[in-house]
Amino acid sequence: MQAAELLADAFQEPAAQIDLTDVSVDTQQYPFSEGDICIVAVPSFGGRVPNAAIARLGRMRGNGARAVLLVAYGNRAYEDTLLELKNTLTDAGFCCVAAVAAVAEHSIMRQFASGRPDRQDEAELRNFGRKIWQKLQAGTKTIVSVPGNFPYREYGGLPMKPKAGMSCTKCGLCAEKCPVGAIPKESPEKTDTAACMTCMRCVSICPQHARKLNSLLVAAGAQKLKKVCMERKVNELFL
Ligand SMILES: Cc1cc2nc3c(=O)[nH]c(=O)nc-3n(C[C@H](O)[C@H](O)[C@H](O)COP(=O)(O)O)c2cc1C
Repeated sequence: MQAAELLADAFQEPAAQIDLTDVSVDTQQYPFSEGDICIVAVPSFGGRVPNAAIARLGRMRGNGARAVLLVAYGNRAYEDTLLELKNTLTDAGFCCVAAVAAVAEHSIMRQFASGRPDRQDEAELRNFGRKIWQKLQAGTKTIVSVPGNFPYREYGGLPMKPKAGMSCTKCGLCAEKCPVGAIPKESPEKTDTAACMTCMRCVSICPQHARKLNSLLVAAGAQKLKKVCMERKVNELFL
């Protein structure tokens, strides 16, 4: 995620990446310790952390490592996402010291926050990164307060799921990269609609641009969200 890289740029430490969307990665295998700093970045889906990310983060063992929370959202709202992320990581043994909500292009309705993070966002996120780094350098372990409510808002996913069209060559890339294994490897033109979380990964990586959502449903959704999503939202830092 671009915003995570911008934050990490300010940290004067060598960084390693763990891809939470990779089904073959066992998140339990990382032996974190108190000296580690983890930027944990998730998108906001329906104002919540995607279920698949919760399951993978919940298996991690923080062992007192400090965590910087980052939520990317598509210019509507992120509601309970930061709180859910903080609670999940705290339960997993992390010490949550800072949080950022960053606006990023909406991956379904790309007219919202189109092209973001842009240059202004980049400068802001780098600046956030420097401030977080200062806090980390000072060695403080004050737990960050983040907005959100518990019980979290209900989110049951979206009724629209991407489908492969005639130009699908069955190359299998989408099946390989789907974060929830919703596309069968032997017949990638199909989608397990119960498992699919409409994350849009398959749509964005398909070399043939064969996978798409129903454009009428997307247009209807965009019409509903137009009012709340059009105005530019700001990035936020919580320390
Ligand atoms: C299924 C789904 C639900 C989303 N729900 C929200 C939302 O509730 N609020 C919002 O502002 N953006 C929402 N978005 C937009 C994403 O938060 C935004 O595009 C984010 O940057 C996606 O990051 P990614 O491309 O790394 O998945 C949603 C996107 C998807 C795919």
